[in-house]
Amino acid sequence: MPAPILRQLDVLRDTTLPWRLAGETIGVVPTMGALHDGHLSLVEAAKAACDRVIVTIFVNPMQFNNPEDLENYPRTEHDDARKLERFNIDALYVPDGPQMYPDGFSSKVTVTGLTDVLCGAHRPGHFDGVATVVAKLFLQTSASDAFFGEKDFQQLQIVRRMARDLDIPTIVHGCPTIREIDGLAMSSRNLLLSDRARVTAPRLHEEMETMTAAILDGAPFAPLQEAAVKRLELAGFTKVEYLEMRANDDLSLLDTPTRPARLLAAAWLAGVRLIDNIAVEA
Ligand code: PAF
Repeated sequence: MPAPILRQLDVLRDTTLPWRLAGETIGVVPTMGALHDGHLSLVEAAKAACDRVIVTIFVNPMQFNNPEDLENYPRTEHDDARKLERFNIDALYVPDGPQMYPDGFSSKVTVTGLTDVLCGAHRPGHFDGVATVVAKLFLQTSASDAFFGEKDFQQLQIVRRMARDLDIPTIVHGCPTIREIDGLAMSSRNLLLSDRARVTAPRLHEEMETMTAAILDGAPFAPLQEAAVKRLELAGFTKVEYLEMRANDDLSLLDTPTRPARLLAAAWLAGVRLIDNIAVEA
Protein backbone atom coordinates (compact mmCIF):
# COMPACT_ATOMS: atom_id res chain seq x y z
CA MET A 1 0.00 0.00 0.00
CA PRO A 2 1.33 3.50 -0.78
CA ALA A 3 2.30 5.27 2.43
CA PRO A 4 0.86 8.72 3.12
CA ILE A 5 3.51 11.31 2.18
CA LEU A 6 3.79 13.97 4.86
CA ARG A 7 5.62 17.20 4.06
CA GLN A 8 4.70 19.42 7.01
CA LEU A 9 5.91 19.04 10.58
CA ASP A 10 2.50 19.85 12.09
CA VAL A 11 0.87 17.11 9.99
CA LEU A 12 3.57 14.66 11.10
CA ARG A 13 2.93 15.57 14.74
CA ASP A 14 -0.86 15.17 14.31
CA THR A 15 -0.22 11.76 12.71
CA THR A 16 2.01 10.44 15.49
CA LEU A 17 -0.07 11.83 18.39
CA PRO A 18 -2.60 8.95 18.55
CA TRP A 19 0.23 6.41 18.21
CA ARG A 20 2.07 8.00 21.11
CA LEU A 21 -1.09 8.18 23.23
CA ALA A 22 -1.70 4.49 22.56
CA GLY A 23 1.86 3.71 23.76
CA GLU A 24 2.92 2.36 20.36
CA THR A 25 6.60 2.16 19.41
CA ILE A 26 7.66 4.30 16.44
CA GLY A 27 10.56 3.08 14.31
CA VAL A 28 12.23 5.62 12.06
CA VAL A 29 14.51 5.02 9.09
CA PRO A 30 16.23 8.30 8.20
CA THR A 31 17.40 8.48 4.56
CA MET A 32 18.33 10.94 1.85
CA GLY A 33 16.35 8.92 -0.70
CA ALA A 34 17.64 7.06 -3.76
CA LEU A 35 16.60 3.97 -1.84
CA HIS A 36 18.39 0.69 -2.47
CA ASP A 37 18.22 -2.75 -0.86
CA GLY A 38 20.43 -1.51 2.00
CA HIS A 39 17.76 1.02 2.99
CA LEU A 40 14.99 -1.52 2.45
CA SER A 41 16.72 -3.92 4.87
CA LEU A 42 16.49 -1.15 7.49
CA VAL A 43 12.78 -0.75 6.77
CA GLU A 44 12.37 -4.50 7.20
CA ALA A 45 14.19 -4.37 10.56
CA ALA A 46 12.01 -1.45 11.67
CA LYS A 47 8.82 -3.28 10.63
CA ALA A 48 9.89 -6.36 12.59
CA ALA A 49 10.69 -4.38 15.75
CA CYS A 50 8.14 -1.54 15.94
CA ASP A 51 4.39 -0.95 15.95
CA ARG A 52 4.66 2.01 13.55
CA VAL A 53 7.28 2.79 10.92
CA ILE A 54 8.19 6.15 9.39
CA VAL A 55 10.75 6.50 6.59
CA THR A 56 12.17 9.99 6.14
CA ILE A 57 13.67 11.40 2.94
CA PHE A 58 15.56 14.66 3.22
CA VAL A 59 18.67 15.58 1.22
CA ASN A 60 20.25 17.55 4.03
CA PRO A 61 22.17 20.57 2.73
CA MET A 62 23.88 21.04 6.11
CA GLN A 63 25.91 17.83 5.73
CA PHE A 64 27.29 18.58 2.26
CA ASN A 65 30.56 20.45 2.27
CA ASN A 66 30.63 20.64 -1.52
CA PRO A 67 27.76 22.41 -3.38
CA GLU A 68 28.36 20.31 -6.51
CA ASP A 69 27.99 17.09 -4.49
CA LEU A 70 24.67 18.41 -3.09
CA GLU A 71 23.49 19.35 -6.58
CA ASN A 72 24.42 15.94 -8.04
CA TYR A 73 22.96 13.86 -5.20
CA PRO A 74 20.32 11.55 -6.77
CA ARG A 75 16.71 12.58 -6.10
CA THR A 76 14.21 9.84 -6.91
CA GLU A 77 11.20 10.41 -4.64
CA HIS A 78 8.64 8.82 -6.95
CA ASP A 79 10.65 5.57 -7.31
CA ASP A 80 11.45 5.59 -3.59
CA ALA A 81 7.74 5.77 -2.69
CA ARG A 82 7.06 2.89 -5.07
CA LYS A 83 9.83 0.74 -3.55
CA LEU A 84 8.34 1.26 -0.09
CA GLU A 85 4.82 0.16 -1.09
CA ARG A 86 5.34 -3.51 -0.25
CA PHE A 87 6.36 -2.70 3.33
CA ASN A 88 3.10 -0.99 4.31
CA ILE A 89 4.89 1.65 6.33
CA ASP A 90 2.78 4.13 8.25
CA ALA A 91 4.22 7.36 6.84
CA LEU A 92 6.83 8.71 4.46
CA TYR A 93 8.06 12.04 5.82
CA VAL A 94 9.56 14.26 3.12
CA PRO A 95 10.04 17.68 4.69
CA ASP A 96 11.04 20.60 2.51
CA GLY A 97 14.03 22.82 3.37
CA PRO A 98 12.12 25.41 5.45
CA GLN A 99 10.45 22.67 7.57
CA MET A 100 13.92 21.60 8.65
CA TYR A 101 15.78 24.89 8.58
CA PRO A 102 13.29 27.75 8.94
CA ASP A 103 14.40 31.36 8.47
CA GLY A 104 16.81 32.34 11.19
CA PHE A 105 17.79 28.75 12.02
CA SER A 106 21.00 29.08 13.98
CA SER A 107 21.62 25.93 16.04
CA LYS A 108 24.05 23.10 15.46
CA VAL A 109 24.76 19.78 17.18
CA THR A 110 28.48 19.00 17.38
CA VAL A 111 29.76 15.66 18.66
CA THR A 112 33.43 16.17 19.47
CA GLY A 113 36.21 13.56 19.17
CA LEU A 114 34.41 10.92 17.12
CA THR A 115 33.89 13.49 14.35
CA ASP A 116 37.51 14.60 13.98
CA VAL A 117 38.81 11.44 12.27
CA LEU A 118 38.08 9.35 9.14
CA CYS A 119 35.34 11.06 7.05
CA GLY A 120 35.21 13.94 9.54
CA ALA A 121 38.83 14.84 8.80
CA HIS A 122 38.10 15.00 5.06
CA ARG A 123 34.63 16.55 5.10
CA PRO A 124 34.71 19.51 7.50
CA GLY A 125 31.31 20.14 9.09
CA HIS A 126 29.75 17.01 7.59
CA PHE A 127 29.00 15.28 10.89
CA ASP A 128 27.66 18.48 12.49
CA GLY A 129 25.13 18.47 9.67
CA VAL A 130 24.34 14.79 10.23
CA ALA A 131 24.04 15.08 14.03
CA THR A 132 21.86 18.19 13.73
CA VAL A 133 19.41 16.76 11.21
CA VAL A 134 19.22 13.36 12.92
CA ALA A 135 18.53 15.01 16.31
CA LYS A 136 15.74 17.01 14.64
CA LEU A 137 14.31 13.92 12.92
CA PHE A 138 14.32 11.94 16.19
CA LEU A 139 12.45 14.77 17.92
CA GLN A 140 10.08 15.56 15.06
CA THR A 141 9.03 11.93 14.60
CA SER A 142 9.05 11.01 18.34
CA ALA A 143 11.06 7.95 17.36
CA SER A 144 11.31 5.25 19.99
CA ASP A 145 13.74 3.38 17.71
CA ALA A 146 15.87 4.36 14.74
CA PHE A 147 17.64 2.15 12.20
CA PHE A 148 20.99 2.92 10.56
CA GLY A 149 23.29 0.87 8.34
CA GLU A 150 26.73 -0.18 9.56
CA LYS A 151 27.98 0.86 6.12
CA ASP A 152 28.29 4.37 7.60
CA PHE A 153 29.93 3.05 10.74
CA GLN A 154 31.32 6.38 11.94
CA GLN A 155 27.91 8.01 11.43
CA LEU A 156 26.26 5.22 13.43
CA GLN A 157 28.63 5.72 16.38
CA ILE A 158 28.20 9.52 16.25
CA VAL A 159 24.40 9.24 16.19
CA ARG A 160 24.51 6.84 19.17
CA ARG A 161 26.72 9.23 21.13
CA MET A 162 24.56 12.24 20.20
CA ALA A 163 21.34 10.54 21.36
CA ARG A 164 23.00 9.43 24.60
CA ASP A 165 24.58 12.82 25.34
CA LEU A 166 21.38 14.78 24.63
CA ASP A 167 19.09 12.34 26.52
CA ILE A 168 17.04 11.74 23.40
CA PRO A 169 15.18 8.51 24.26
CA THR A 170 15.56 6.90 20.84
CA ILE A 171 17.19 3.46 20.70
CA VAL A 172 19.70 3.46 17.83
CA HIS A 173 19.97 0.11 16.01
CA GLY A 174 22.93 -0.68 13.73
CA CYS A 175 22.08 -3.07 10.87
CA PRO A 176 24.55 -5.03 8.70
CA THR A 177 25.86 -3.59 5.43
CA ILE A 178 24.07 -4.96 2.38
CA ARG A 179 26.35 -5.71 -0.58
CA GLU A 180 25.98 -6.25 -4.29
CA ILE A 181 26.79 -9.78 -5.46
CA ASP A 182 30.38 -8.69 -6.25
CA GLY A 183 30.90 -7.29 -2.74
CA LEU A 184 30.39 -3.57 -3.41
CA ALA A 185 28.61 -2.01 -0.45
CA MET A 186 25.22 -0.67 -1.53
CA SER A 187 25.12 3.11 -1.59
CA SER A 188 23.02 5.77 -3.29
CA ARG A 189 26.29 7.12 -4.70
CA ASN A 190 26.83 3.92 -6.70
CA LEU A 191 24.26 5.34 -9.14
CA LEU A 192 26.87 7.99 -10.04
CA LEU A 193 29.52 5.43 -11.12
CA SER A 194 30.21 5.04 -14.85
CA ASP A 195 29.94 1.47 -16.23
CA ARG A 196 33.73 1.21 -16.20
CA ALA A 197 34.10 2.52 -12.65
CA ARG A 198 31.34 0.17 -11.49
CA VAL A 199 33.49 -2.78 -12.61
CA THR A 200 36.48 -1.49 -10.60
CA ALA A 201 34.54 -0.41 -7.49
CA PRO A 202 34.38 -3.85 -5.74
CA ARG A 203 38.21 -3.83 -5.59
CA LEU A 204 37.94 -1.68 -2.47
CA HIS A 205 36.07 -4.37 -0.56
CA GLU A 206 38.31 -7.12 -1.98
CA GLU A 207 41.45 -5.34 -0.73
CA MET A 208 39.85 -4.83 2.68
CA GLU A 209 38.96 -8.54 2.96
CA THR A 210 42.52 -9.50 2.01
CA MET A 211 43.97 -7.07 4.54
CA THR A 212 41.66 -8.27 7.31
CA ALA A 213 42.65 -11.90 6.75
CA ALA A 214 46.36 -10.93 6.91
CA ILE A 215 45.85 -8.82 10.07
CA LEU A 216 44.14 -11.77 11.74
CA ASP A 217 47.11 -13.93 10.70
CA GLY A 218 49.34 -11.53 12.64
CA ALA A 219 50.84 -9.53 9.74
CA PRO A 220 51.96 -5.97 10.69
CA PHE A 221 49.46 -3.30 9.65
CA ALA A 222 51.58 -0.58 7.99
CA PRO A 223 53.05 -2.65 5.09
CA LEU A 224 49.63 -4.18 4.40
CA GLN A 225 48.09 -0.72 4.24
CA GLU A 226 50.81 0.61 1.93
CA ALA A 227 50.52 -2.33 -0.47
CA ALA A 228 46.70 -2.15 -0.57
CA VAL A 229 46.75 1.60 -1.33
CA LYS A 230 49.23 1.00 -4.17
CA ARG A 231 47.08 -1.76 -5.67
CA LEU A 232 43.95 0.41 -5.45
CA GLU A 233 45.72 3.27 -7.20
CA LEU A 234 46.93 0.91 -9.93
CA ALA A 235 43.36 -0.35 -10.35
CA GLY A 236 42.16 3.22 -11.05
CA PHE A 237 41.25 4.74 -7.67
CA THR A 238 42.48 8.33 -7.83
CA LYS A 239 42.84 8.90 -4.12
CA VAL A 240 42.59 6.71 -1.03
CA GLU A 241 41.58 9.17 1.69
CA TYR A 242 42.00 6.67 4.48
CA LEU A 243 42.41 2.95 5.04
CA GLU A 244 42.64 2.49 8.77
CA MET A 245 41.89 0.08 11.59
CA ARG A 246 40.00 1.62 14.50
CA ALA A 247 38.35 0.52 17.73
CA ASN A 248 34.60 0.01 17.38
CA ASP A 249 33.55 2.07 20.38
CA ASP A 250 35.67 5.24 20.38
CA LEU A 251 37.19 4.97 16.87
CA SER A 252 40.74 5.23 18.25
CA LEU A 253 43.48 4.18 15.85
CA LEU A 254 44.82 0.61 16.23
CA ASP A 255 47.62 -1.29 14.55
CA THR A 256 46.66 -4.62 16.10
CA PRO A 257 43.09 -5.69 16.84
CA THR A 258 43.50 -5.81 20.64
CA ARG A 259 39.88 -4.60 21.03
CA PRO A 260 36.81 -5.12 18.83
CA ALA A 261 37.93 -3.35 15.67
CA ARG A 262 36.96 -2.39 12.14
CA LEU A 263 38.88 -1.68 9.00
CA LEU A 264 37.47 1.49 7.41
CA ALA A 265 38.20 3.06 4.03
CA ALA A 266 37.24 5.98 1.82
CA ALA A 267 38.52 6.25 -1.73
CA TRP A 268 37.73 8.21 -4.89
CA LEU A 269 36.95 6.43 -8.14
CA ALA A 270 36.13 8.40 -11.30
CA GLY A 271 34.86 11.37 -9.31
CA VAL A 272 32.77 9.31 -6.86
CA ARG A 273 33.72 8.96 -3.21
CA LEU A 274 33.19 5.40 -1.95
CA ILE A 275 33.32 4.33 1.69
CA ASP A 276 33.30 0.88 3.25
CA ASN A 277 34.16 -0.89 6.49
CA ILE A 278 34.39 -4.45 7.75
CA ALA A 279 34.77 -6.02 11.17
CA VAL A 280 38.27 -7.31 11.96
CA GLU A 281 37.24 -10.56 13.58
CA ALA A 282 37.74 -14.25 12.92
O1 PAF B 1 23.01 8.25 5.96
C1 PAF B 1 22.28 9.13 5.45
O2 PAF B 1 21.59 8.91 4.45
C2 PAF B 1 22.23 10.51 6.09
O3 PAF B 1 23.49 10.88 6.59
C3 PAF B 1 21.16 10.65 7.16
C4 PAF B 1 21.41 9.73 8.34
C5 PAF B 1 19.79 10.34 6.56
C6 PAF B 1 21.12 12.08 7.69
O4 PAF B 1 20.86 13.00 6.68
